[in-house]
Amino acid sequence: MIRIALAAGLSATAFLAGAQQPPAFAPSNLTPMGVRALAANCAACHGTNGRPAPGSTLEGLAGRPKQDLQLAMNQFKAGKKPATLMHQISKGYSEAEIEALADHFSRLAR
Ligand code: HEC
Repeated sequence: MIRIALAAGLSATAFLAGAQQPPAFAPSNLTPMGVRALAANCAACHGTNGRPAPGSTLEGLAGRPKQDLQLAMNQFKAGKKPATLMHQISKGYSEAEIEALADHFSRLAR
């Protein structure tokens, strides 16, 4: 019993010590499947495959020029484009991920 308590105490200490470190993220998965998984994060608001649901006031992403999507994301991220949500969401993606997402959506049919 004491051993278990000691082990639990040690792992809690290790956990707390670990919590001092900044979070380490896995490297980007920019394979085609990885990019599709990233793009699925956008579906809740921009529609499945970047095509908004009928009646949605949100912009579609499918079939838009890659450079427009990339520019918008980078401007949101830099706080240079007014936004209610995208200034936060865009911060979750690296430059390479933003480019891959822009490329992905630009290739989808509107
Ligand atoms: C929680 C809802 C939500 C999610 C999830 C979301 N967006 Fe947005 N998006 C918005 C809103 C709302 C706007 C309008 C700007 C604003 O108010 O933030 C927008 C605007 C945009 C625009 C600008 C469109 C234009 O023509 O001006 C782009 C590009 C964009 N989003 C890309 C993405 C991408 C890529 C993802 C996934 C990584 C994503 N969004 C996920 C809500 C969302």
